[in-house]
Amino acid sequence: MAHQLLKGKKGIIFGALDERSIAWKTAIRAVEEGAEIVLTNAPIALRMGKINELAKLCNDAPVIPADATSVADLENLLQKSMEHFGGKMDFILHSIGMSPNVRKAIPYTDTNYDNFLKTLDISALSLHKVLQSSMKLDALKEWSSVVALTYIAAQRTFPGYNDMAEAKALMESIARSFGYHYGFAKKVRVNTISQSPTITTAGSGVSGFDAFFTYADKMSPLGNATAEQCADYCLTLFSDYTKMVTMQNLFHDGGFSNTGVSQSIIEEMEKAAQANG
Ligand SMILES: NC(=O)c1ccc[n+]([C@@H]2O[C@H](COP(=O)([O-])OP(=O)(O)OC[C@H]3O[C@@H](n4cnc5c(N)ncnc54)[C@H](O)[C@@H]3O)[C@@H](O)[C@H]2O)c1
Repeated sequence: MAHQLLKGKKGIIFGALDERSIAWKTAIRAVEEGAEIVLTNAPIALRMGKINELAKLCNDAPVIPADATSVADLENLLQKSMEHFGGKMDFILHSIGMSPNVRKAIPYTDTNYDNFLKTLDISALSLHKVLQSSMKLDALKEWSSVVALTYIAAQRTFPGYNDMAEAKALMESIARSFGYHYGFAKKVRVNTISQSPTITTAGSGVSGFDAFFTYADKMSPLGNATAEQCADYCLTLFSDYTKMVTMQNLFHDGGFSNTGVSQSIIEEMEKAAQANG
């Protein structure tokens, strides 16, 4: 289903770890739609992941390591990408998230603050660093598009999401604030997509993930959005059809965010009540 929606566009995709990653699907779809891409991930993820397989599937896209918390790495990535493309770029996907507290199953109410700061640096400030480095190096064309992925735990409490909730709230705020400055300065648009729970390495690391994946699916009139569907939504935001959309947090969740309760959940509760006598 390719429409050459991104024909002639060039961009960087952060965060493709394996074939389940949202960034992996987005890279493949972007190339199908005519884009040329550079792939990047943290050096450790490049060693452990399968990004070279993806690069082959993407017309031998260059793979340039960058720890998204390191401004030096990001500047190197942007400079090398511009050299590769022979000029400025049209889009960036920020698909990065990691919380050492989640990874080590440390409860929110007993948080380790060094870990908490790492969560914020990797999962939120990294977006600011990407945007600030891009602006400083003038790496993005006018009307280009930066998209970062987020989750509704930024607005509502999901206990297992831990300090990633604060990271996502901060990241969404950075997208709004930087979107304002980059919009006036260069007409660059910056948005976040708030995606349904999705079975990936980062997603499945959240405690109780399977239960809230099923819960969200039953709550959402359209069901949970898949990683492939998220990739398609990213492409629309990279395309010229969404040129006036900026500073938005866009829910891509089958209607979950505006549903109070669904009939299916009510029936489950009724069944449970009956079973308990
Ligand atoms: N899976 C879900 O349920 C879900 C739902 C909503 C939003 N999201 C968001 O989508 C994005 C992508 O996650 P995913 O679900 O595809 O999982 P994933 O584990 O495949 O991707 C996360 C990526 O972040 C990268 N990363 C971690 N630390 C980094 C660093 N220091 N520098 C550069 N990259 C680093 C990892 O290497 C990995 O490639 C994340 O922002 C995540 O929070 C995921």
